[in-house]
Amino acid sequence: MSMVIIMIQDHIDELVELLNRASYEYHTLDKPTITDQEYDSYLRELINLEEKYPEFKRADSPTVRVGGEVIEGFNKVIHEVPMLSLSNVFNESEIIAFDERVKKEIPNPKYVCELKIDGLSVSLLYKQGKLVRGATRGDGVTGEDITHNVKTIKNIPLSLPEPIDIEIRGEIYMPKASFLSLNEERKRNGMDLFANPRNAAAGSVRQLDSKIAASRNLSSFLYHLPNAEQYGLHSHYESLEFMKKLGFTVNPNIRKVNGIEELLLFIEAWTKNRENLPYEIDGIVIKLDDLNTQRKLGFTAKYPRWATAYKFPAMEVYTKLRDIKFSVGRTGQVTPNAILEPVILAGSTISKTTLHNEEYVTLRDIRIGDIVSIKKAGDVIPEVVGVLEERRTGNEIPFEMIKNCPICGSVLTKKETEAAYYCKNPHCDAKKIEGLIHYASRDAMNIEGFGDNIVEDFYNMGYLKSISDYYTLYQYKEELMELEGFGSKSIQNLLDSIEESKFNSLERLLFALGIRYVGKKTGKILADYFKSMDQLEAASYEELLEVHDIGETIAESIVNYFEEPQNKELINTLRKIGVNMCYEEKEIRENVQFVGKTFVLTGTLENIKREEAKEKIELLGGKTSSTVSSKTDVVIVGVNPGSKFDKARELGITIWTEQEFLENM
Ligand code: IVH
Repeated sequence: MSMVIIMIQDHIDELVELLNRASYEYHTLDKPTITDQEYDSYLRELINLEEKYPEFKRADSPTVRVGGEVIEGFNKVIHEVPMLSLSNVFNESEIIAFDERVKKEIPNPKYVCELKIDGLSVSLLYKQGKLVRGATRGDGVTGEDITHNVKTIKNIPLSLPEPIDIEIRGEIYMPKASFLSLNEERKRNGMDLFANPRNAAAGSVRQLDSKIAASRNLSSFLYHLPNAEQYGLHSHYESLEFMKKLGFTVNPNIRKVNGIEELLLFIEAWTKNRENLPYEIDGIVIKLDDLNTQRKLGFTAKYPRWATAYKFPAMEVYTKLRDIKFSVGRTGQVTPNAILEPVILAGSTISKTTLHNEEYVTLRDIRIGDIVSIKKAGDVIPEVVGVLEERRTGNEIPFEMIKNCPICGSVLTKKETEAAYYCKNPHCDAKKIEGLIHYASRDAMNIEGFGDNIVEDFYNMGYLKSISDYYTLYQYKEELMELEGFGSKSIQNLLDSIEESKFNSLERLLFALGIRYVGKKTGKILADYFKSMDQLEAASYEELLEVHDIGETIAESIVNYFEEPQNKELINTLRKIGVNMCYEEKEIRENVQFVGKTFVLTGTLENIKREEAKEKIELLGGKTSSTVSSKTDVVIVGVNPGSKFDKARELGITIWTEQEFLENM
């Protein structure tokens, strides 16, 4: 080789190294050392030389980043170490349960918390320090070879400072700003828009032509070293440091935490601060730091046991509006409801939600077939907040308010001043069913087990036509036990719960009767003031107005209610049956062990009656439920507990013995 040629090769090497270092300083360290103009002029020089002397073009040349390689199809890649996903936790008690499970094996666990980057996972394989393969996760065992596109991502090193063989894993993502400008450009060009940065990133790496990925401004964070021990590392934190040294971009917002308190603080801080990040995160990943303890805990078929992902409640999701169906409430109000393609929002699946009234739908021009955005703030029920007009195909069906009750067919009426339509037919089945469901509901008479479906079935079968029928259901006990889906145990539970409801304090009954404008709070005010149903019934409009917080509308509604012979008859029947009609003043004594928590009782309690226990829990600020779920906070276990006990253990829910319960009261 001539001297000149050797000099050219050296110069190419020099340019590659200079440009790669500059790129690393710019993209990974965020500390540029040369100007964009300088970078561009060196790059142009390199491009020219490579064109003239293609034999000297290096695999790690920055010109690779520009893209150009076009593949015909995606080759399959087998992951030697499977690429597992993470188990999810959605709230504090699930995080605590995860920690408790870890603690069973590892007495004093130390965790590393990281941001959960909302992109797609990638495996990068280096041989002799050179990037030879980039692959998607696929099903965890088999992924797709996306090397040509991975090479265009500027903060993924094409070569490492050491000639080692190594696999590194992390996330490819699209920064929020790139996503927005990409969608703007697509809109201008009449192209379909990406729903979110994750989809945009995934769509970009699945391109055959690497020029497209190169133009998409993708980026990466690396967070996992599958064979860390091989490199003499002992902890996850050390792995992250090691990856940084090799030139990878590791997310800077990483914290070693000492126990659950610190962990929860980290989560709280990022829940507030995530908006300010230039990329999207969808949660916090919690990993056991020490690699020995990781190994000890191992994996399930799908997830590592040594890590989990806390998912932020998704505050906004998009889904398709399949249909709009109308329902009739107990007051006769007719409501349009959105029937949705099921989506997960804030940890629960949503397939139906209210559209409130005609005006709500028409103002937003919500059409059947639209892609709609659904939001949820705090504990509030999810709402359809808008339509993605750009996703319309032209086949959407505009909304039309119905003119007749969807159940009984009566013509609907509407007051000028109100947005809602009503079915005024007092015999409308839908109204009656809703009234019955309301009567049994938790804040009303709290008759457990009477959800929408049972009430509707019992109504249709003729067992439950009016509120007072709840109390004569026992006469059909044998028949009911024969019904499909009911056993003797479940029917007995229903009947017991009905019996217990007779002893409720007056405010529950007042709310349960469904008197217009008498909600839970008003029920309590009235019960507290009048002390008994007799006194309330006897009260005149003027007397009612004297009550603090009772205005004309409520007073009028109450007077009207007691004037209806049908209502009078119902109250007399309930009285005869033995339903309590008096106010039982309770001293509310809030107790931090109970406030806001949901309790489930299982097994026989020896020192306190079950009903009394439930009442105590409520008095102390807690709620009771009959089923164990992730929403349960504490399960109180008596003698011979049932399957609820097993489920509670499985879900890692706090368990109290009867003794502990009595002590905590
Ligand atoms: S660790 C065996 N760390 O979340 C450990 N994953 O829902 C594997 N993700 O498939 C993953 N940020 O794509 C880990 N800091 C992070 C992450 C992260 C985002 C993704 C990853 C994973 C998914 C699980």
